[in-house]
Order: sequence, then C-alpha cells, then structure tokens
Amino acid sequence: MSQVLAAAPRRLLVVDPCQECELLLPRLQASGWAVQSCGLAEANHANCDVGLIRLHLQHLTRPESLKELISQSGTEWIAVLNAEALMQPDIGNFVGEWFFDYHTLPFDLDRVGIALGRAFGMARLRGNINPSGGDSQGHELLGSSRSICDLRRLLAKLAPTDAPVLIRGESGTGKELVAHTLHQLSRRTEGAFVVVNCGAIPEHLIQSELFGHEKGSFTGAHQRKLGRIELADGGTLFLDEIGDLPLELQANLLRFLQEMQIERVGSHRPFSVNVRVLAATHIDLEEAVRRGRFREDLYYRLNVLQVQTTPLRERVADIGCLAEYFAQRYAVEIGRRPRNFSEDARQAMFEHTWPGNVRELANRVRRGMVLAEGKQIEAVDLGLAKELPSLLQARTLDDYICRAEQQALRDVLARHSGNMTRAAQTLGVSRPTLYRLLHKHQLF
Ligand SMILES: Nc1ncnc2c1ncn2[C@@H]1O[C@H](COP(=O)(O)OP(=O)(O)OP(=O)(O)O)[C@@H](O)[C@H]1O
Ligand SMILES: [Mg+2]
Repeated sequence: MSQVLAAAPRRLLVVDPCQECELLLPRLQASGWAVQSCGLAEANHANCDVGLIRLHLQHLTRPESLKELISQSGTEWIAVLNAEALMQPDIGNFVGEWFFDYHTLPFDLDRVGIALGRAFGMARLRGNINPSGGDSQGHELLGSSRSICDLRRLLAKLAPTDAPVLIRGESGTGKELVAHTLHQLSRRTEGAFVVVNCGAIPEHLIQSELFGHEKGSFTGAHQRKLGRIELADGGTLFLDEIGDLPLELQANLLRFLQEMQIERVGSHRPFSVNVRVLAATHIDLEEAVRRGRFREDLYYRLNVLQVQTTPLRERVADIGCLAEYFAQRYAVEIGRRPRNFSEDARQAMFEHTWPGNVRELANRVRRGMVLAEGKQIEAVDLGLAKELPSLLQARTLDDYICRAEQQALRDVLARHSGNMTRAAQTLGVSRPTLYRLLHKHQLF
C-alpha cells in the first residue's frame, strides 16, 4: 500500500457510471487511481489523465456531446459497454473510431487495469497536445523556433505605431497571420481589420472597392457603396498581394496614404479617415519597381517598417508543434477522434522541404486526419513518400559527414519534438553547440 501512495497520482475520470461501475471505483482507487466521477454535462470541466465512459444508448442516439468531450479533452478514453451492444455494427464502428479501447461487462478489475494502464501510457506519449498559445480561431502565431520568437518580439514593437508595415515572405508562411497579429496587438484592436486582396478583385472594380462610390456614379451603381478604406476607419486595412495593384490605382492609394483622405467615386468631396495600412507581397517589389510595374514613391511609402516571414524549412523546430495543433483542430472540424503521429510520419515531416510552408503542413495534416485508418497518422496518410536517402547524393567524405550531421539533427529534433535540452542530451553536446549546429545547417 505504501508503494501505491508513493506513486504519482494518475487521474481517472469516470463518466456516467452505472451501479456496477460505482462498486469498482474504490478498488481502482486502491490500485493507485485518483478517481473522480460525474455526468457527461460536467465532464468538460474536469481534469483527467484517462477517461472511462459507461456507454448508454442515449450517448449513441445523440453522440455530439460525447464527440466534443473526447475531442477537447486531449486524452484517451475507454468505453464500457456490454458485449451484445458492441456486436452491433453502428456501435462497434463508433467505439472503434472514437475510443482508445473498450471494456465489455461484467467488470474485471485486472482487464480494466491493463486497459487503463495502456491508455495512460498513450496519453502521456501524446504529451501536451494543445500547444500553448493557440486559440481556437488559429489566429495566434505558434512556434518556438528562434525566428518565430524574434518575429513575436518585433510585432510587439511595431504594433503600437501607426506607420505602414510591409510584410514579405514566401507563400503560406503566415503573412496574413502577421497582419492580423499586428492589428490585435495594436490600439486599434476594437476597430475593424479589413482585408483587400489586390490580385483577386477585377481591375475595373478595384477603385470602387477601395474608395466606394456614390449612387448613380456609373451604370450599375444603384446605391451608395462604402469602400474598404472607409470600412477600416478606426481600424486596420490589410492590402494583400500589393504587387498586383494596377499602376493607376497605385497613384490613388499613394494620395490616400499621404493625405489620409479619400473621395468616393462620383463625389468630389474628400473626407478624412483614420486607417493604419499594412501590405503584403510574395513578389520581389524592388524588381517590380525597376521594371516600372510598381511606383517607387508608393514603395517607399509602404516600406516604412518591414517584417520578413521565415520559410518553414528554415525553422524545423516548429513543425512538431504546428502539426499537433492542426491535428487537434481538424479532428474537431472533421469529427474524428484526435490522432497523434507515428514515428515515421514525424520523420517524414522533418525531412520534407515544405515548398508551400505552413499552409501545406495544415493541408497535409488535414488530409492525414481524413485518411488515417489506424490509431496514428502515418507518413503515407500525409502524402509524404520516402525520398531517396540523401547520403546517396553525397560525393566527398566531407559531404558524407555534413549530411550525416544534418540527418542526426533532424532525427533527434523529430524524436524530441523540438525540445532542445533533450535533443542536446541525446546527441551528447551542449545546448550552445546544438544551436550552432542548427544554425550551420539552417535548421533553426
Ligand atoms: N506560425 C503559425 N502559427 C499558426 N498558424 C500559422 C502560422 N503560420 C501560418 N499559419 C497558418 O497557415 C496558413 C497560411 O498562412 P497565411 O495565409 O497567413 O500565409 P501567407 O503568407 O499570407 O500566404 P500567401 O502568400 O499564400 O497568401 C493559415 O491558415 C495560417 O493561420
Ligand atoms: Mg496571404
């Protein structure tokens, strides 16, 4: 008994227990489980390491609350039901999809103990499934790599000013998320965040989209329309793909930026607006200026402050946390039980070069979540076929050594989900050496 008391408490939540379950609870307590029981309605607020649910018919006729509990809890669940119920295909499929394991009645303490022990081990392996800092809207910049930490610090500095910010970076690296973060951190957060995708609006409509129009100002203008700039009054205007803005509109935008005044199409009465402008592009704006496709004066006006987003391949330490975040998010959206990633899948994610960056990662995880048939998401579910081992492409001994070093770093980061202290311990190097190596191989 003293051994049991000395062990770390393992918290077990028993939901909707029947009389037979109630009898079992003291015996589970005696074998080291800190047991709490409640009804399904209260279960969302309880903290537990593992869950046990006495599955009743009403759970299965209206399974939404149960699915929500399982998805949100971030732990493993065991269904308790009788063998006949389990034989029914609907119930069997439901249990197979949503539960880590099941226990058929009558209760057998040994069998339950084994199932709970396995579920507990798996729950611990899954670790912190809900990465800190992520909100359910996905509007928070996640990651712990140095470039993301630097980016967060920079955004905190830039947010309070009203100066324009030009956000640059490859597609899918989070430029829009950066713009949204700047808005949220600014004094304008109560105001609107208005997005204009300059490449997506037909050229003949963009003037009235941005500046609005008066009734009757052109054929089809049946009523007054407020432009996006006016809608952003008191808030932030995000001009996405600014490089696609037609030259003629660039002149109008420049005037607005200089004077902070606009005129609706068909009106000659300018009025003032209070808007902060953020702009993003993935093209080389300097080159566009050289080729005469982008006004130099507008370029300087927008480029007062600059933010550069980093490609995902240069911050592999963020892959694990982002993948887990998307797995959790899409499990809820798709309505499947949350799954973690197999060792192979993690390895494949660390080896992939992510040309589509975070958006590609999100899409692959979503696909993996839909396709996964087993308990875990496998590399094949993510569509990440094994590439040729890079060692085959090495030529000189230095090449071999360099590639082996890089492989070791990728392996160990994958194994420890980017935990630098444990990665350094595994490799037998100090943390500063690990950072130096990661920097050398551009993995951080
Ligand atoms: N650090 C991050 N943490 C969480 N989610 C992220 C992060 N970076 C990007 N994302 C997500 O990845 C997706 C793509 O990001 P976003 O649309 O901001 O990229 P973008 O740079 O604007 O791409 P594009 O140039 O193609 O428009 C979004 O769903 C966004 O929420
Ligand atoms: Mg974008």
